[in-house]
This record gives sequence, C-alpha cells and structure tokens, in this order.
Amino acid sequence: MFMKLFTIFFFSLLSQSLKFSSQTLDFTYSGFVSEYYHTFRHNNNISTQGTASVTSNGLLVLTNANIQGTGHAFYTKPIRFKDSPNGTASSFSTTFVFAINPEFDIFSCHGLAFVVAPNSSLPFGSPSQYLGLFNNANNGNDSNHVFAVELDTLRSTEFNDTDDNHVGIDINSLRSVESSPAGYWDEKGQFVNLTLISRKRMQVWVDYDGYTNRINVTMAPFGQVKPRKPLVSIVRDLTSVLLQDMYVGFSSSTGSILSEHYVFGWSFRLKGEAPPLALSKLPKLPWVGPTRIYKFYKNWMPLISLLVIPVLFIISLVFLGRFIVRRRIKFAEELEDWEKEFGKNRLSFKDLYYATKGFKEKHLLGSGGFGKVYKGFMRTTKRAIAVKRVSNESQQGLKEFVAEIVSIGRMSHRNLVPLLGYCRRRDELLLVYDYMPNGSLDMYLYNSPEVTIDWKQRFKAIKGVASALFFLHEEWEQVVIHRDVKASNVLLDSEHNGRLGDFGLARLCGHGSDPQTTHVAGTWGYLAPDYIRAGRATTATDVFAFGVLLLEVACGRRPIDQNENGERVLLVDWVFGFWTEENILDAKDPKLGSEYDQREVEMVLKLGLLCAHPNPQVRPTMRQVLHYLKGDAMLPDFSPSDFCGGGMTLGINHGLGDLATFIGVSSVADSILSGGR
Ligand SMILES: *[C@@H]1O[C@H](CO)[C@@H](O)[C@H](O)[C@H]1NC(C)=O
Ligand SMILES: *[C@@H]1O[C@H](CO)[C@@H](O)[C@H](O)[C@H]1NC(C)=O
Ligand SMILES: *[C@@H]1O[C@H](CO)[C@@H](O)[C@H](O)[C@H]1NC(C)=O
Ligand SMILES: *[C@@H]1O[C@H](CO)[C@@H](O)[C@H](O)[C@H]1NC(C)=O
Ligand SMILES: *[C@@H]1O[C@H](CO)[C@@H](O)[C@H](O)[C@H]1NC(C)=O
Ligand SMILES: *[C@@H]1O[C@H](CO)[C@@H](O)[C@H](O)[C@H]1NC(C)=O
Ligand SMILES: *[C@@H]1O[C@H](CO)[C@@H](O)[C@H](O)[C@H]1NC(C)=O
Repeated sequence: MFMKLFTIFFFSLLSQSLKFSSQTLDFTYSGFVSEYYHTFRHNNNISTQGTASVTSNGLLVLTNANIQGTGHAFYTKPIRFKDSPNGTASSFSTTFVFAINPEFDIFSCHGLAFVVAPNSSLPFGSPSQYLGLFNNANNGNDSNHVFAVELDTLRSTEFNDTDDNHVGIDINSLRSVESSPAGYWDEKGQFVNLTLISRKRMQVWVDYDGYTNRINVTMAPFGQVKPRKPLVSIVRDLTSVLLQDMYVGFSSSTGSILSEHYVFGWSFRLKGEAPPLALSKLPKLPWVGPTRIYKFYKNWMPLISLLVIPVLFIISLVFLGRFIVRRRIKFAEELEDWEKEFGKNRLSFKDLYYATKGFKEKHLLGSGGFGKVYKGFMRTTKRAIAVKRVSNESQQGLKEFVAEIVSIGRMSHRNLVPLLGYCRRRDELLLVYDYMPNGSLDMYLYNSPEVTIDWKQRFKAIKGVASALFFLHEEWEQVVIHRDVKASNVLLDSEHNGRLGDFGLARLCGHGSDPQTTHVAGTWGYLAPDYIRAGRATTATDVFAFGVLLLEVACGRRPIDQNENGERVLLVDWVFGFWTEENILDAKDPKLGSEYDQREVEMVLKLGLLCAHPNPQVRPTMRQVLHYLKGDAMLPDFSPSDFCGGGMTLGINHGLGDLATFIGVSSVADSILSGGR
C-alpha cells in the first residue's frame, strides 16, 4: 500500500518534473546561427515561413524586399503561459534588436511586430498594413488570442494610427490598445525621437507582470542601456488573451514599397527578466557594402540611362538654343551697306558690353543731354574707354553724322577727344572714346571742388578748345559746327590739355522729323540769340558758346547763375555789369588767388564778351580768337558802349520763361533741365 502510494507519488512527481523540464523557460539568440549550424545544419529551434529566413551569418530576415509579402519567424516550441492553479497568465519578458532598411528614404514601408500567438504560422495574416498578423475578416476578433507589439512605419488611418513612426500594444487587433511615437525617455526625463526606418539597429524590451498586469514596452538605440521609463505602459490582464500554450516570434510584411526587416538577436524568459543579449556578438548591419538598392540601380540603370540621357540631351539642346538666340538678340547690331567703308571703326557690341561689364550702373561716368556715358576697359587693346550710348530714334542724318565723326576721328587732332570707333544697334548709337582720366572742366570750376586748377592750366585748356574749334571750322575739309561747346564737354587729358568732345552730336539729336520746324538743340546758357531766333547753327553760334565758356573759366561761375536776390542772371550780363563799372577784373574767380596774369584774365574776360556779342557779325572768327589767345594779335580796343550803346539785348531784359515761350520748342525745355552743366 505504502509502496503503491509511494510509486504513485514518485511517478506523479517524476511526470511533473518531466513535464516541467520539457517546458521552456528561457532562450537567448545572439545571432540566429549556432556555431554548429554550418557543419551539422543544427536545429536552431526557429521556424520561418513566407519571406522569412535565416542568413548564413545569423541574421533573421523577416522580409527580403518582396512586394506584398509576409514573413513569420517563431520559436518552434510552445511556451506554457498558464501553469498556476488560479489559471492566470504568467509574467514574461523579452528583448530583441531589429533594424529596418527601406528602399527609399522618403517613402514609408510597413513595419514588424513581436507576437505571442496560438499557432506558430499565423496562416491567415495578410500583408501590408496587417503586418502578417491579421486579415480584414478577423481583425479585432477576440477569438484570435494574439498579443503583439507593433513597430509600425506607416500610418493606417483605419487603425487610428497616430503617425508613421510609432510603437503600439496590439491585442487581437491592429487598432492599438496603446501607442506612442518611437523614441525613449533619457536619464534627464527628456523624450528622444527615434526613426524606425533609419537603417540603424535599435533594441526593444517587452515586459509583462502577471501579478500587477502591467505591460511595459521600452526601446533604445543599439548599445544603450534599457531606459528606466517605458515608452508605452498599460495595465491589462492578459489571462483572457493568452491560452495555456502559446508561440512567440515575429511577424512582418511589405506593401508596394520594397523594404527589408531584420532581427539581430532575441532573448525570452518566462517568470523573470529576459537574459541580456551579447551585443558585441550580434551580426553586423547587412547594408554595409552593396545593398539591394545598389543592385536595383545596377539592374535598372542601363535602361534608365537609355531613357533619361536622350531626354536630358534634348532638354540641354533646347536650353542651349534658347541661350544662343537670347545672346544673338542681346548682342544684335545693325550693319548697313554704307557702313562698309567704316568697317575698321566699327566695334562689336559684345566687346563693349564686356568692356563695361554689361553697362553696369557702377561704371556710369555721367549722363548728359544725349545719353549715358560708361567707363570701360578693352581687354584686347588694354585701353580705358568711355562709351557714350546715344538713343537714336530718327535715322535721319545718321549716315552723314557717322561719316563725319569717323573721318574727324581719323584726323586725331590733339585737342579733340579721340574717337576709337562706334557701334550701331536697333535704336541707339554707341560712340567709343578714349577715357580722359582727369574728367571734364566743369568739375574743377563749380560746386566748391576739392581740386581746382590754376590760371595757367585754365588758360592752356581754353587755348586747346580754341584750336579744336578752329580745326572744326576752318582746317577740316568741310565746315563742322560743334553746336554744344560747354564746360562739361571740355575734357582734360592726362597732361591737362583741354580736349573737346561730342562734336556734331547736337545736330544729330536735334534733327526733327519735320524740316519745317526749327529745333534748337544745345545747352541753355550757351545758345546764341541769333541761333534761338533763326534756329540755324553757324560757326558764329559756336563762337558765342565759346565766349560763354571763356567767361565761365575766368569767373568760375555757371552761364546761368542766381544772384543774391535769387534771380537768375546770365553770366554775360553779370560780367558786362562789372565792365560798365570799369572794374571788369572783379568778375574773376576768387579761387584763382593771386597767382594769375592780370592782363591775360582781362583779355579773356573781354574776349569772352566779344565772342558772346549779340550780333553775330561782330563776333570774331575762331582763327582770330586763336591769334588773340596766343598773343599773336592784340585784342582790339573796345568799350561797353560799342555793345549797342549800353544794354546788351541778350537775356537781360527777358525772363527765361519769355524766351522759352518765344521759341516754343520742347527740346529747349529739355535743354533747360540739363542747363548749365
Ligand atoms: C533547441 O532546443 C533543444 C532542446 O529544447 C536544445 O537542446 C538546443 O540547444 C536548442 N537549440 C538552440 C540553437 O537553442
Ligand atoms: C496565481 O498563482 C500564482 C502562483 O501560483 C501567483 O504568483 C499569482 O499571484 C496568483 N494570481 C492571482 C491573481 O492571485
Ligand atoms: C496552425 O494552423 C494551421 C492551419 O489552421 C494548422 O494546420 C496547424 O496545425 C496549426 N498549428 C498549431 C501548432 O496549432
Ligand atoms: C470571431 O471568430 C470566430 C471564429 O473564427 C467566429 O465564429 C466569429 O463569428 C467571429 N466574430 C466576429 C465578430 O467576427
Ligand atoms: C478612432 O478615431 C476616431 C476619430 O478620432 C474615433 O471616433 C474612434 O472612436 C477611434 N476608435 C478607436 C477604436 O479608438
Ligand atoms: C519628435 O517627433 C514628434 C512627432 O514626429 C515631433 O512633434 C517632435 O517635435 C519631435 N521631437 C524632437 C525633439 O525632435
Ligand atoms: C513598468 O514600468 C514601471 C515604471 O518604470 C515600473 O515601475 C514597473 O515595475 C515596470 N513593470 C514591468 C513589468 O517591467
């Protein structure tokens, strides 16, 4: 009896212990290949289905980039989750290291899940958003008996997902009981985001306490200790969810985007904390070296190139064509037959464009009545140039003008600004001159200049201008009237020689379309009364302007200036006033100081008045003027009374407004605006 009892007891104990010992309590995989695997094909107790497999270097691949695939990997032996008399589910703990390698950084793929399931194959799990766990019909059905922790990389709104990078606890349904964006709480209590598809290894811990029923899910970057605060934590009794024997493993799926899901190491323990993983022994990241993405490009690149390269070629041809056409338009010039003889003097617009750096504002020297002047530098000739852009709406007289300036330019008179060439475009003419480093004469005379020039230099400049005008009027094969003699058109070269610029321009720009109307062009203050009345420029009108220039240089005042009462006064009248009071020298520029030749200054003032005589017949010729200036002839003795018995009939009795109405020409108004420059 006793023996019998003992035997029963013994066998029941033995069967208990046998049963107990057959029950797995824990396992650890630091890589999924044992050291005997290669030699004996040793059973590693992992079964894989679908796209899942174990690579020879011990990597558990759940999905290998198959589209619309599912992959499962389970520990082959069932685990007894319920073994206590009260029938509650036991505590368990697991940890694993995973990584996700998406084909493209920007498109999300699907995720993976740690799963506790009644069957080691999950045969009804659908791909894509179902993660291989459930399908459309059984999702949410309590008869599933599935507990899972999802690492979801896509937002499925039908499951109320919060974002495309979250960790959730799933019970019988993909609609998570609780979830959180992927990340962890660091030591300082700061939340740190993690990106599941970052291709980096990360570790996850799942812990269930069968007594308090708390489920904790924690994650951290690979190599870091388990954070103290879990990422997701809920209280849920799993007794009704888990059956007595269950299988643990992983499930994963792909959708239309290729992606790879890997598990590097895994440990599990019932009724205790999961054994730590030997992190250093885990397999290495597989995408060091040629990846599937690389292979994809290697396979498809030739085809892609075949399609893309011709398209790129065509696009670049179109762009090149556009560029060339635009350039053509940009640098377009006009060349007519009559210009052939001036070929040598033609400069290309392109060269001028580059010389002035595209006519930048920075290179603007000034803008006068006829256009803007830019400074430039010719690379080919290594020469500083000044480019004048004259807008040229009326083509009338252009041919004669070009012929004239080119031929005069060829003469290269030492007192004319050398013309290097010209260029013609649709509606403008570009004149290229030597750059005069010392600027124009007016700069030294007015606006309290920093540098002024002494009498010797002024006298030299005047003589230069006189000889240039004499050349134009008498020495050249035909009479050329300058029409715009003024201080700003007198340029000083490096030796302070006066050089006259802009000859003939006034005529070109003054040409009206209707030859019946008289257009007066030039600069107000320098216009002779006979020119204003008759509208005809003569050498005498040039002499008049030169006379005004003489007075300007001697007095340092503008042709039209304001007196102390704020009234506008003509310089001629102003000097005349001093003369009538017999102290003409008082009109001289105070900036001259004491270093001047009194006789010269007096002669220049008187010559200025004589040249600016209202009667053109009385004015001397440039030949005579040159003689007087050179001292080859004495200025005839004359007195104020010789000027029509006293008052000059210039502007003294006329307001400027009266004159303007008297002439009634709009171009005069333009000249007034640039007046006195
Ligand atoms: C598989 O399980 C058997 C018995 O349960 C055990 O002896 C063996 O070591 C396991 N293999 C691995 C690779 O864990
Ligand atoms: C059930 O029994 C186990 C041991 O048998 C015990 O650890 C556990 O606390 C019990 N659970 C409840 C809810 O009483
Ligand atoms: C899992 O389910 C399949 C299909 O229903 C079935 O054939 C298989 O026997 C089940 N396996 C286990 C271990 O229950
Ligand atoms: C849950 O699944 C069981 C078994 O497959 C089925 O009988 C039942 O109708 C399902 N319940 C719902 C609500 O779909
Ligand atoms: C899902 O979200 C919608 C809208 O936010 C809400 O009405 C619904 O109750 C949620 N369902 C679950 C199961 O949380
Ligand atoms: C973490 O991610 C969430 C959601 O994507 C974002 O709102 C938050 O600003 C991120 N925090 C940090 C520190 O990057
Ligand atoms: C879950 O986390 C909380 C807070 O850190 C901790 O107190 C508790 O012991 C954890 N439970 C398990 C089962 O790890």
